[in-house]
Amino acid sequence: HVTARRHTPRSLAALDAPIVALTAYTTPMARLMDPHCDLLLVGDSLGMVVYGMDSTLAVTPEMMIAHGQAVVRGSQNACVAVDLPFGSYQQSPQQAFAVSAEIMAKTGAGCVKLEGGVEMAETVHFLTQRGIPVIGHIGLKPQAVHTHGGFRTVGRGDEAEQIMQDAKAIEAAGAFSIVIESTMEPLAREISENLSVPTIGIGASPACGGQILVGEDMLGLFSDFTPRFVKRFAAIGEQIDRAVADYAAAVRDRSFPGPEQCVGMPKKDS
Ligand code: KIV
Ligand code: NA
Repeated sequence: HVTARRHTPRSLAALDAPIVALTAYTTPMARLMDPHCDLLLVGDSLGMVVYGMDSTLAVTPEMMIAHGQAVVRGSQNACVAVDLPFGSYQQSPQQAFAVSAEIMAKTGAGCVKLEGGVEMAETVHFLTQRGIPVIGHIGLKPQAVHTHGGFRTVGRGDEAEQIMQDAKAIEAAGAFSIVIESTMEPLAREISENLSVPTIGIGASPACGGQILVGEDMLGLFSDFTPRFVKRFAAIGEQIDRAVADYAAAVRDRSFPGPEQCVGMPKKDS
C-alpha cells in the first residue's frame, strides 16, 4: 500500500505509534523497506556495511549524497534522513549548515542526523533555526569510536548523567527526534520518559519512541560485526550463499543457460 504523502519530520514527531525506522543505502532496498517504515536513514554506517571500512570516519559528503539520492528515488512513504559524516560538520555551525544544505538540496531528503550532545547543541540550534530539521544521536557515537575506546555499551555510572544532559541539550536546541545508541536500558528509558520529542532506540530500550536497526544486520546480510542489540529477522546471507553456489554449479556443468534463456537453441529430444 502507498500513503498519499511522504512522512515529514512534523508527521513523525506527531505519530501516536512507535516510529519504525531502518537504515537503507540503495534504491532496491529502499523500495522493499519503504511501505513498512516511517523513517529510512541513510546512515554513515554505509562505510562499514557497503564499503568494508572498519569505522565510519572516512565516509564523505559525496558518498552520503549519492546514497541519499538512491534512497529518495526508491521511497515515497517514509521520511528520509541522511547522516552528516565525520569531519563535515563538527568544526562550526556554519560548516554544518553548508554541508546540510548541500545534502538536502541534492538528495531531496527531509532532514539530517548528526552525532553529539551538549557540545553540538549550538549547531543543532543554528540548523533548526534555518530550515534544516535535525535528528540528534547520543549515547554511543560511532564517529567518536576512538574517544569511546571501542564500540561498547555506554551510560554506566558517571556517564549516565552526561548522556542525560546531552539529551536535554539537543532537545532544547530544536532536534525533532533523538537516536539513542547502545546504552544501558534504564538510562534510555529515563531519557525517553523525560523528553517531549520521540527517541529512536538502537541497543537502547523498548520504552523509546521508535526503533532503528541497520537493514543488513536485521536481514542477516552483514556479519563482520554483530552487536548484541541486533536481532536477525531473516538469514538472507545464507540464501545468497546457496543461490550463488547453485549458479556456480550450473555454469560448471553447463546446465545454465538452458533453452529457456537462449534464443533459437534447439531443444534436446528426450
Ligand atoms: O549510521 C547508522 O546506521 C546510524 C544508526 C545506527 C542509527 O546512525
Ligand atoms: Na550513523
